[in-house]
Amino acid sequence: MRKTIIAGNWKMYKTIVEAIELANGLKRELFDLAGPDEIDIVLCPPFTALTEVFEVIINSNIGLGGQDMYWQDEGAFTGEVSGKMLKDAGCSFVIIGHSERRQFFGETNETVNKKIKAALKHGLTPIVCIGETLAEREKNMTFDVLKEQAHNSFKDINAEEILKTVIAYEPVWAIGTGKTATPAQAQEAHEYIRDLFVKLYGEKAARALRIQYGGSVKPENTAELISQPDIDGALVGGASLNIESFSQIVKRASEVKK
Ligand code: 13P
Repeated sequence: MRKTIIAGNWKMYKTIVEAIELANGLKRELFDLAGPDEIDIVLCPPFTALTEVFEVIINSNIGLGGQDMYWQDEGAFTGEVSGKMLKDAGCSFVIIGHSERRQFFGETNETVNKKIKAALKHGLTPIVCIGETLAEREKNMTFDVLKEQAHNSFKDINAEEILKTVIAYEPVWAIGTGKTATPAQAQEAHEYIRDLFVKLYGEKAARALRIQYGGSVKPENTAELISQPDIDGALVGGASLNIESFSQIVKRASEVKK
């Protein structure tokens, strides 16, 4: 049984005051839901609000994640934040290789690989994003892209480490567009990704690996997506910025029995 994981990627939204308000509201809505043994609920606010959000959710059933990190622990790297610093701020998770970082900030599979290794070194669970663009899907390149991203991002990472990792399949064409992959399209990609990991790490590790779906997840489509056999959770953007919609997503996901 793979534990469901629902993470909210707040991207570049929320001032500190707004972040505290959102975290408080979610804590209130979700306090009586299953604890971290049954479902992982993760908030990924911007760096500026990490400490304050941590103070709100400490000792609750909600965990904290960063949205990116640098692979060095410290040094003259203006503008960067390290895994050591995320850990210090209360994080247990970190998103790595989000398509927006690949698209706008020069993230590559090679830098993703270094970041995964650094995150694991600091005891952070990396949520590693992979996914194809619309042009790649239309050219029937989806599987090739996923294969290349998986192979290169996880270079030299062993089976034990892979179990401490979460994959997020986020088709770029479904991010922020309101265009969700159909449950069948998402399941097809997730199954393909799991098979890739079977080849890389063997049946046992790949069957235990959690693969989240991301891209226009809303309360209305959560249950159907999470019911798919290889979809183990959701990485939510827009709908995670609101108390009602994110708590509904978490509640609906927690009701899915597989
Ligand atoms: P949306 O849910 O806004 O489509 O964003 C998905 C995403 O990028 C999560 O990381």
